[in-house]
Amino acid sequence: MTLPTLETERFFIRPLQESDLDLMLEMDTDPEIMKHVGGAMTEEEVRSRLPNYLHRDEEKIHGQWCIVSKTDGERHGLVLVKPMPVEEPNGRLFDTIEASGIEIGYRLRKTSWGKGIATEASEPFLALQFDEVGLDRLIACIDPENNGSQNVLKKLGMRYIGETPAYGLILPTFEITAAEWRAARNS
Ligand SMILES: CC(C)(COP(=O)(O)OP(=O)(O)OC[C@H]1O[C@@H](n2cnc3c(N)ncnc32)[C@H](O)[C@@H]1OP(=O)(O)O)[C@@H](O)C(=O)NCCC(=O)NCCS
Repeated sequence: MTLPTLETERFFIRPLQESDLDLMLEMDTDPEIMKHVGGAMTEEEVRSRLPNYLHRDEEKIHGQWCIVSKTDGERHGLVLVKPMPVEEPNGRLFDTIEASGIEIGYRLRKTSWGKGIATEASEPFLALQFDEVGLDRLIACIDPENNGSQNVLKKLGMRYIGETPAYGLILPTFEITAAEWRAARNS
């Protein structure tokens, strides 16, 4: 079994692959994109993290996916679903790190901001995790000043549960349970 490719109205969301390194280099060395995500990395750091980006758990459907426009094949950024690291990963594989839950996250190129892409691309992962994998809750952490991300999480139906340890910090955390997601879907 390989990680699935998901589909929304505007996008195919396929597993991240080695040839997406250019996209990761573009996003992760950009101080504006990385302002609330631990700061820009050097090109060398991004290259050395490629195994982390490509790391997958096919049974639990954890990994990172690339958001691709159906119309022209443009790549907009990534969505990830994986164990939330408690410590700063610092190049280690994320599955070796003590986790506090399963996180959903996203990061887009600047030209793709403000078009509803993060919300649309994240939604199918809730359905996948709750309906097919059988997960009972998803969490997400944000920098307290990341209003854009906070709005995406609220649009996904996630609710603030306080501050929890994540990535070596204590960060505002949002949660949605499978029951809440089902209730919202059926309302
Ligand atoms: C945060 C980020 C993913 C948002 O993606 P996006 O596709 O622009 O978000 P959406 O268009 O789905 O926006 C969802 C809602 O948030 C609002 N929003 C988006 N960016 C915003 C911002 N910077 N400030 C305030 N609100 C914002 C939108 O207006 C929208 O609300 P609306 O539908 O009521 O208008 C994107 O800006 C990004 O990649 N930032 C850099 C990386 C990052 O911070 N990732 C998140 C780490 S937790």
